[in-house]
Amino acid sequence: MTTRRRFCTWGAGTLLLAGLGVRSSFAAEARTLRLSHNLTTAHSVHQAMQVMRDRVLELTDGTLSIDIYPNAQLGNQRESVELVQAGILDMAKTNASELEAFDPIFSLLNIPYLFESGEHYYRVLEGDIGRDILGATAGKGFRGLTYYDSGARGFYATRPIESPADLKNLKIRVQPSPTAIEMVELMGASPTPLAFGDLYTALQQGVVDGAENNPTALVTARHGEVAKFFTLDEHTRIPDMLVISEASWQSLSSAHRRALRLAAAESMASQKAAWQSASDAAVSTAKEEMGVEFIEVDTAAFAERTRPIRDRVASQSSRARRWIEAIEAQA
Ligand code: GCU
Repeated sequence: MTTRRRFCTWGAGTLLLAGLGVRSSFAAEARTLRLSHNLTTAHSVHQAMQVMRDRVLELTDGTLSIDIYPNAQLGNQRESVELVQAGILDMAKTNASELEAFDPIFSLLNIPYLFESGEHYYRVLEGDIGRDILGATAGKGFRGLTYYDSGARGFYATRPIESPADLKNLKIRVQPSPTAIEMVELMGASPTPLAFGDLYTALQQGVVDGAENNPTALVTARHGEVAKFFTLDEHTRIPDMLVISEASWQSLSSAHRRALRLAAAESMASQKAAWQSASDAAVSTAKEEMGVEFIEVDTAAFAERTRPIRDRVASQSSRARRWIEAIEAQA
């Protein structure tokens, strides 16, 4: 029986029980989960989480709701995950860079040039390793529910960067991630960790000369208004990740957990289908409406500089080494 039919059967059971004056299992456990994230409502990741919210409502006969709070209105990514870990907030959309501060195992998803392509990235994240990484922090206050595509990251700045030599002495905003800091240092620039929401002003006021992200940041966060050069060096493919508080997870019934897992997986699939055109549209808008120049480069020169990171992360633990080798074997 498909999951949809199984849930439909529960729906019928609910009506029957209600008719007998007995509170149904779903009605007795009606819940609302609060989800915080730092992207705008125009972002494909926000839209994918709306897909999840609608699907979960449908699967649970309206008894499990998700209220989504975008634009970091409940706090930036770091603050949101801290609240999730403490069981004060139910869910947060963050990414594998921010999560390094909570568990070093996430460093492995931050290794430059770990994934050879988008196909390689999905082969890993949709497979056993992706699933195991989602569960890696279950004993640490939160667990991963799914991944969202955040494309390949490149440097963007107020000056053109054509080779690592052009990064010398530039102040580059990074996420508060030890691996991102190390990567930018190895490239010869000065890393400045900042929350995403503080970056526009930092660029505008010259606190930093540039940053690194996927092209959608130029448009959804308007960074292309200030940074007019985007380098396609594709140094990392860092997934966005949806996490749920362990306390919230444990408090859900098994039916609600199943519905949430399924809806989260479906939302990942919907965002996978939407990502490339969202990214392409951002590149066109950045070029045509904001005057951003996109620079093709020899990525090997950037990869060469950052090579020590892979071995440093592999030496962290036998699990990290095992997963890195397994990821490389799937290239
Ligand atoms: C990506 C990601 C965000 C993250 C941002 C950043 O855009 O989707 O979740 O905050 O990178 O660089 O901070």
